[in-house]
Amino acid sequence: MRTQVAIVGAGPAGLLLGALLHRAGVANVIVEQRSAEHVLGRIRAGVLEQVTVDLLREAGVAARLAEQGLPHDGFELSFDATRLRIDLQALTGRHVTVYGQTEVTRDLMAHRRDAGLTTVYAAEQVQPQGCDGARPAVTWRQGGREHRLQADFIAGCDGFHGVCRASLPAGALSTFEKVYPFGWLGVLSDTPPVSRELIYGAGERGFTLASMRSPTRSRYYLQCPLDDRLQAWSDDAFWAELKRRLPPDAAAQLVTGPSIEKSIAPLRSFVAEPMRFGRLFLAGDAAHIVPPTGAKGLNLAAADVGLLARCLAEHYGGSDAGIDHYSARALARVWKAERFSWWFTSLMHRFPDTGAFGARMQRAEFDYLCSSAAAQTALAENYVGLPLAG
Ligand code: APR
Ligand code: PHB
Repeated sequence: MRTQVAIVGAGPAGLLLGALLHRAGVANVIVEQRSAEHVLGRIRAGVLEQVTVDLLREAGVAARLAEQGLPHDGFELSFDATRLRIDLQALTGRHVTVYGQTEVTRDLMAHRRDAGLTTVYAAEQVQPQGCDGARPAVTWRQGGREHRLQADFIAGCDGFHGVCRASLPAGALSTFEKVYPFGWLGVLSDTPPVSRELIYGAGERGFTLASMRSPTRSRYYLQCPLDDRLQAWSDDAFWAELKRRLPPDAAAQLVTGPSIEKSIAPLRSFVAEPMRFGRLFLAGDAAHIVPPTGAKGLNLAAADVGLLARCLAEHYGGSDAGIDHYSARALARVWKAERFSWWFTSLMHRFPDTGAFGARMQRAEFDYLCSSAAAQTALAENYVGLPLAG
């Protein structure tokens, strides 16, 4: 089998890259290790920057998003019982769109199927080959035999635990990592959200996030110890703790119900540099991870592949300037999002070593946000997403 771009991974990064390359007339094949059902079953975040919405529209997969996406002009911060609304629209002239990543993945999968593009699911022992040469390939096993996909380029869109970054020779990359000493316990429920906008809460019991997927489906998160276990969290225990942590008037609005998904996720900041090795390009979680506090994971993945699709299309148009600068330009945006996500996580969570002084520093930062349009604007412009580099 042969194509122009072999994409490893059918998550949001791989699927969106495939759709954008197809629009640009660049042939591509996706090789995914899990089944389509498994990929669709993942519950992830749900806040899209306008850059991401624009890329989905450019890829031709934004019809359902336009109908069902919820425009949000602001969100709230709460420290103990004090609440501050960050008015994104007034401060930046922009908004975000609430639309679950699962739905983004569903739309991208449907588009790929309708366009008749090749996606290999349930591929075993996937392996990029010859990335530092002129004839890279991706091999895998399926149906009891080996398969080989020859390509001009390989896009490693295989996430943090993928094979592409892991297969690079020692010394090819520099990595930067911070593992946070807590996790997020998340619950999805078919109950109306406590508020029309998201509420990010900080307090002595830990971080809380009240989010949503629709006017009838809520998504809640509680900061929890790293060694916490799902078995320790019945639905009743979750709702009781959420009520303790929400601001009182929001807690009074809380409608509880059976969880339809419950999970604990660790928090990590991670960057691998560079995002290119010969004819292999890394994009999305394969290259970087952010703590979910700033809702940057999906948006960074989209920005990466929006840039990579343009660079690869330029290559086939006769210019390698794009692909030669892909890594530096992608990383310039990645590091700014890493900083924002780290800052927001540090502000809103209780760390084991926060202590009394640290708690006062967090409260002082919140009080400064309450009093400063400049501070709120800095928060807002990072939250809605920095403009794509020119
Ligand atoms: N071979 C083939 N596919 C692989 C391999 C492999 N060796 N390893 C992983 N994959 C697949 C995974 O099964 C997954 O479907 O690559 C895909 C990677 O998708 P994501 O992990 O979702 O990463 P990405 O597409 O970059 O999207 C980032 O997804 O996980 C969230 O929080 C993250 O919102 C962010 C977004
Ligand atoms: C979510 O709805 O899952 C969500 C929203 C905002 C975040 C993180 C997660 O910052």
